[in-house]
Amino acid sequence: MRKPRIFVTRLIPEKGLETLRQESEVEVWPDPFPPPYEALIQKATGVEALLCLLTDKIDSNLMDAIGPQVKVISQMAVGFDNIDVQAATARGIPVGNTPGVLTDTTADFAWALLMSAARRVVEGDKFTRSGKWKTWGPIDFLGPDVTGATLGIIGFGRIGQGLAKRAQGFDMRILYFDRRRNPEAEMKYFAQYAELNTLLREADFVSLHTDLSQETYHFIDDVRFKLMKPSCVLINTARGPVVDPGALYRALFSGTIAYAALDVTEPEPIKSDDPLLKLDNIIIAPHIASASFQTRDKMAMMAAANLIAGLKGERLPNCVNPLVYNS
Ligand code: DGY
Repeated sequence: MRKPRIFVTRLIPEKGLETLRQESEVEVWPDPFPPPYEALIQKATGVEALLCLLTDKIDSNLMDAIGPQVKVISQMAVGFDNIDVQAATARGIPVGNTPGVLTDTTADFAWALLMSAARRVVEGDKFTRSGKWKTWGPIDFLGPDVTGATLGIIGFGRIGQGLAKRAQGFDMRILYFDRRRNPEAEMKYFAQYAELNTLLREADFVSLHTDLSQETYHFIDDVRFKLMKPSCVLINTARGPVVDPGALYRALFSGTIAYAALDVTEPEPIKSDDPLLKLDNIIIAPHIASASFQTRDKMAMMAAANLIAGLKGERLPNCVNPLVYNS
């Protein structure tokens, strides 16, 4: 029997591909860079399923162009702001994502950024490599203590709570802000709900864990930076556009806040002439918070499971638009 044709927009971990090959005829985009939009349309035209990444723009135009035979769009990521989910729902296409499996790995990385920024690990490494380390300096490379400091978590979902769990080991005072209060998580992580402005005023470290939506686009702007302490460290492992990059530059350059550590930027990748790259008080990682061997395997397998369920006409194990099943 003919296997359904699917397109995978980049090489993903073999474990995921293995599963896909059992059920479908798989074509994988071979380049290390994402397929350009037109090439993606060309490759995906006529397929029954698409496995995509956060670097692919999946909009209504693309959905129409690739054809009505598409049974499922499966994203290998928890975030899915690159996909027009409403358009998919309107066309009856379920969209899958990979929540849960990357929670700890991402929280670990947010914690690594927090520690690296506070203790100036990246600056120290650059200093050593450039041959500038000539002596032990009593007032060199000072940074704020993490132990006992106040951590403000914006977005108290799985990853935000994961960060709170790690912060407990450092005796931190934990404040959080979210659309909804979560009394159970408050008790579990000794976290205290705070109004946003209170959190921004009181936190020594602010870590962002919201999704990207109209509501959170440039959520951290000039006004909110001005509420933060001059010693504050901002960590962003959520999505780049949650922070206004111009405002971030102004805040870091003028000393409105002390430091930032980002895994995500706007745009991605950050342009090589971006003024943020000229600053010493920022760490910028290339969106690698979920990049552990184990987690990427799990994400690939989960994306494959969603895709295969969709091909079979079954409910996706992780569907972001369950409304499709109502119609
Ligand atoms: C996601 O899954 O949304 C992360 O940003 C990448 O793993």
